Amino acid sequence: MAVPGDKSISHRYALLAALAEGASEIRGFSPAADCASTLRCLEALGVRLERPAGGDTIRISGAGLGGLNAPEADLDAGNSGSTMRMLAGVLAAHPFRSRLVGDESLSRRPMRRVIEPLERMGARNTAGEGGRPPLEIEGAALAPIRYQLPVASAQVKTAVLLAGLHATGETEVVEPARTRDHTEIALECFGARVERNGRSTSVRGGAALKGQTLQVPGDFSSAAFFIAAALALPESNLVVHNVGLNPTRTALLDALAPMGARVSVLNLALINGELVGDVHVESSALAGGELPPEMMPGLIDELPVLAVLGTRMERGLEFHGAAELRVKESDRLSAVAGNLRRMGAEVEESPDGLRVPGGQRLRGGEVESCGDHRIAMAFAVAALCADGDSVIHGAAAASVSFPAFYDTLATVCR
Ligand code: S3P
Repeated sequence: MAVPGDKSISHRYALLAALAEGASEIRGFSPAADCASTLRCLEALGVRLERPAGGDTIRISGAGLGGLNAPEADLDAGNSGSTMRMLAGVLAAHPFRSRLVGDESLSRRPMRRVIEPLERMGARNTAGEGGRPPLEIEGAALAPIRYQLPVASAQVKTAVLLAGLHATGETEVVEPARTRDHTEIALECFGARVERNGRSTSVRGGAALKGQTLQVPGDFSSAAFFIAAALALPESNLVVHNVGLNPTRTALLDALAPMGARVSVLNLALINGELVGDVHVESSALAGGELPPEMMPGLIDELPVLAVLGTRMERGLEFHGAAELRVKESDRLSAVAGNLRRMGAEVEESPDGLRVPGGQRLRGGEVESCGDHRIAMAFAVAALCADGDSVIHGAAAASVSFPAFYDTLATVCR
């Protein structure tokens, strides 16, 4: 089987292609509703896109650094935190006013984390009450900064680096923990000068980017649901082809390997600087245990499905240091705990983590996606593992990252 193109990488390729000079072709572009939000915003900023019908290739005519046009209306980021935060970095450098809005879930998410560094670079930004969207940005000529990120967030790191591309001089971002580095890799592909040293990344502003032809690998975070299902369900033997295996994304495999997961990676290759390969998974008895807090940034999107898997582990699963889960598309700690309880499981919720006792059999129940794609998909996996039927209310949220998720699951579970 295969999963659709990586959502994180698709956003970045689209944004950088829009800022480059000349044409770019992006193959395997994610069908996620979130990435469609990025494309829609770019079009509203005057970027010319071509999407041949039915395909997953996008062609973008670059506007060049600083070349976006003032939008005529609000820019709608939909459910996509990545779109709003990363685009904020680009808009901060354009000398016009824009207003970024989002859906109900996105309108509850914290934006101060992105406003603060962009203001330090010279942009004027305002958000609604409590630093929530809508986000109003008045761009300006930006000055470079050295910014120590208060939270480990690849979206905020990206916003500052994209703003830094337009600043005169070198912008440096230092992370409290390493997060996904797709922006750094993509910037190099487009010809930017990037320097990396441990948890510090610098970009030199002012140099033109060049349009590229790029291939997006399969989304590891989408594959994670199939990996988890295959581990949990008896007699599974599954190969997920062409998955992005960038080590900043695959902490799930690092967490599961010492627990006894029979997972191997094959046919590794480097495509546009990103590690890609096939993942082979077989049903496994998992020991479980406590995951160290340092592992959380690399596991952040996989924690809901991992917690579901925890019910089946011998010693269960415990993790802390994941308070960020409370400010995702939903409060994922509370959504996971609530749904596991609805399926008859015992679970303890703490401010920044969960403890899921092991050896529990789930029973079919009615669960809520809470409008969150990863909760919907994690509980589809839970439903497969449960005795009896389950109903997922708001299951359609899956299309935020993986529109064909349920059809794909149906073809794999024969
Ligand atoms: C993403 C970063 C993570 C992740 C999100 C995508 C990205 O968010 O949860 O799904 O593409 O940079 P944070 O940057 O808020 O941690």
